[in-house]
Amino acid sequence: MCNVIDVAQCRADFPILEQTVHGVPLVYLDNGATTQLPRQVLEAMTAHYTQYNANVHRGIHTLSERATAHLEEARETVRVFLNASGLEEIIFTQGTTDSINTVARGIAPMLQAGDEIVVTQLEHHANFLPWQQLCLERSAVLRVAPQQNGALDVAAFRALLGPRTRLAAVTQVSNVTGAVHPIGALASFVHSVGGLLLVDGAQAVRHESTDVQAMDCDFYCFSGHKMLAPSGIGVLYGKRECLASLIPARYGGGMVDIAGEQSSTFSPLPHRLEAGTGSYAQAIGLGAAIRYLNAVGREGIAQWEHTLLDETARQLEMLAGVTLLGSPAHRAGCLSFRVDGVHPYDLASLLDKQGVAVRSGNHCAQPLLASFGLEVVTRVSPAFYNTRAEIDALCSGIRRATEILWRWSGR
Ligand code: ALA
Repeated sequence: MCNVIDVAQCRADFPILEQTVHGVPLVYLDNGATTQLPRQVLEAMTAHYTQYNANVHRGIHTLSERATAHLEEARETVRVFLNASGLEEIIFTQGTTDSINTVARGIAPMLQAGDEIVVTQLEHHANFLPWQQLCLERSAVLRVAPQQNGALDVAAFRALLGPRTRLAAVTQVSNVTGAVHPIGALASFVHSVGGLLLVDGAQAVRHESTDVQAMDCDFYCFSGHKMLAPSGIGVLYGKRECLASLIPARYGGGMVDIAGEQSSTFSPLPHRLEAGTGSYAQAIGLGAAIRYLNAVGREGIAQWEHTLLDETARQLEMLAGVTLLGSPAHRAGCLSFRVDGVHPYDLASLLDKQGVAVRSGNHCAQPLLASFGLEVVTRVSPAFYNTRAEIDALCSGIRRATEILWRWSGR
């Protein structure tokens, strides 16, 4: 039994939610794209900028040492959040896309013609295009495991693995259907053929397990802006030996040990993979976001978000003309749907006029939408600071918008 969260108290921490849009209260249901920041995170970043802003790992002066200490404290907070075994396994990046590209570029020189990379139809472009382009560049083979009812077809995924599989890249939670994937089982399948497993945790980190040792994944990637932290910060976790085998994707300051005219030696992990001045203020914000999530209670957050998502699905299924995309056995974070005769852009636009923010589009997941024979859908992604009343507002907004659009089209 987990602690039930106090939603009203949580909302009070998010000043942005207190506004009206088009004269009506904002109902923000686009958390799959970006979550809002609580005061505690904003205060941590304000403290950074007003008290100790300086470059990290570079100065001997007091402000630089303070900033460095806060950055490294954030790294330790992330380490505990992921249950990683060492600080050298936590690389700060600009976000999930940057993390995945760091791995793709890092293994590129080792990939031989005919080697295989396995992805799934459910991947965000961020976990699809880097592998597609890498395979084209190295004459490797990209294998794409199909979806079934909006979730990974696990048997088909397993059947694609073989002796040439070097790496499989899988999302923990789909950013379109919300399907939750059995990462521990997938890791054991991939490891049984000698491959590595990279997990895109971007849509999962706020409400699912992030225990990388329990999942036994080799790489785990996520972004701050989907878990109450600022944009421009993300994390690449890797098992020590996996990170150590990556060729740095970028060279520059902060990652070099001795720079000679013709050759150089490089710093140990994690700095070897953190070239240049990073997003250190944002990393400090990420540390504050994790502390906030822990203080609210991650199990309580997951439970309330599941309740809201189930309620959304229940109400949507009762609306005329609405069809949910997929029916995954386990869903978290978001769901997508279409409405007969209604373009998702028109729907999102009319919802916005009623104060309701949802995302309509291809969700950077064109292979998945193509597998459904679709180009665009509408997505709802509640967070723990949303209320049942907001789900009611969404659903009556969809009903009103649909009636208007059907009337306009003479339906
Ligand atoms: N990756 C974000 C989304 O799915 C932007 O909406």
